[in-house]
Amino acid sequence: MPAAYVFDAYGTLFNVHAAVARHAGEIGEAGQQLSDIWRRKQLEYSWVRGLMGDSSRDFWDLTEDALDYAFRKVPSADPKLRDALLESYRDLDTFPEVPATLRTLKEKGARLAILSNGSRDMLHRAARSAGIETFFDGIFSAEECGTYKTAPAVYDMVTTAFRIYPDAVSFQSSNRWDIAGARKFGFRTVWINRSGEPDEYKDLAPDAILPDLAGLTKTI
Ligand code: LAC
Repeated sequence: MPAAYVFDAYGTLFNVHAAVARHAGEIGEAGQQLSDIWRRKQLEYSWVRGLMGDSSRDFWDLTEDALDYAFRKVPSADPKLRDALLESYRDLDTFPEVPATLRTLKEKGARLAILSNGSRDMLHRAARSAGIETFFDGIFSAEECGTYKTAPAVYDMVTTAFRIYPDAVSFQSSNRWDIAGARKFGFRTVWINRSGEPDEYKDLAPDAILPDLAGLTKTI
């Protein structure tokens, strides 16, 4: 059993498209387009800010900035829904298999953590509202080190806090670029390929690929 099972948050534990889905009726058929642009720009902003060494905007700020951009790109979506969508984003649903998977791992004695770009407030609020906060022995926010994934310092928060070597960690993420960064850092990695995406970063391959997190409980 790995010394720790560490989970990316957004897209891996929490369904980022649940916020728009809750307001699908008010947004109309452009909802998925709005949600896709919102997520894409949120991530782009984290890479750009990280590369320029700018820690002035945390992941919640970038989430707001990305939604504002998405509304300008999708004029049929009513910007009066901005606050409701952001409030929903604070309390995102988990994917269906998440609570049972975390419970089973915990019952088998695993140490669990979240490692995310999300701000401290975002992560504790989301984990609490989803009823999964108590499963975790650590919740690590990139906000602590003033940069974003895939900076090695973000992944190093786990190895430093838990005093373990990188290859003792099993890191799970649905984001293939995050798996590449974690693999480069030295974690063992499981790509949770929820959307059946083609593989990439061939030189930084995951140790395993699963369609969702349920398969993790079959490995211990
Ligand atoms: C996170 C985003 C990148 O939770 O999914 O770090």
